[in-house]
Amino acid sequence: RVVYVNGRFRPHRNAMVHVEDRGYQLADGVYEVCEVRDGRLVDQRRHTERLLRSLAELRIPLPLPLAALDVVLHETVRRNRVTDGLVYVQVTRGVARRDHGFPPAGTRPSLVVSARRTDREQNERLAAAGVAVVTLAETRWARVDIKSISLLPNVLAKQAAREQGAREAWFVDRNGYVTEGASSNAWIVTGAGAVVTRPVGPDILRGISREVVKDALAAEGLTFEERPFTVAEALQAREAFLTAASQIVMPVVRIDGRPIGGGRPGPVAAALRRSFHAHAE
Ligand code: PDD
Repeated sequence: RVVYVNGRFRPHRNAMVHVEDRGYQLADGVYEVCEVRDGRLVDQRRHTERLLRSLAELRIPLPLPLAALDVVLHETVRRNRVTDGLVYVQVTRGVARRDHGFPPAGTRPSLVVSARRTDREQNERLAAAGVAVVTLAETRWARVDIKSISLLPNVLAKQAAREQGAREAWFVDRNGYVTEGASSNAWIVTGAGAVVTRPVGPDILRGISREVVKDALAAEGLTFEERPFTVAEALQAREAFLTAASQIVMPVVRIDGRPIGGGRPGPVAAALRRSFHAHAE
């Protein structure tokens, strides 16, 4: 395996950044995760646009031209011979003596791009069984629409989920509404058949998979409701699922230990998973 680090491809075992990188010391950076399927980057344009938006919100410049980033992404996939997998892109504000304020002008942002394979069949088996989620209080900052590498609440939530035998944690705001998962967007299908997810805003990440599913719903004539839902409503839902580049559409069959939809993946989630790549770019 090789990893792109600031202009060079390095063997994975010594792909390193400096100890004074602001990503390492201050989590001062952003990232993207893009699916690779049949050797192609899925929805690369939208992932790149979101990366540029996250960078702009934090006033971190992209340290190379966009055309060069495109070459690096494809080279990273090609050199690692990834057919099905994920590409990880991280940009931090660079290496500088530790100081909370921005570093001196001219400090070059650090760019790392890696790619790894995923097991398509294993993911399909997971989706066929569905996953469990647990709910916990929203503890993240107020700008989670920025895809920041500052992920401590997400780390703790994911670990709490794991310790309860679940794959994902759903954050719940002070009013009892689900915001999103630790690394995915959250969805339910109501008894009336409407597919519901929280509106975009500063309190969720605008998932690319979320956008793809929106398009799939329109194409399939399913009712889409963009509104917050409570944990109580989710527990009564006919189906639940989550979306992320790393999961596509993943059925949720248990919430806080209670079965959803009889504890088996439902037809809407299954149909959306099947048609997903027809609606992605
Ligand atoms: N996570 N919400 C959060 C908090 C996320 O971290 C992610 C993605 C999503 C879904 O976004 P998308 O559909 O664009 O992948 C929503 C990535 C996969 C990760 O951190 O690994």
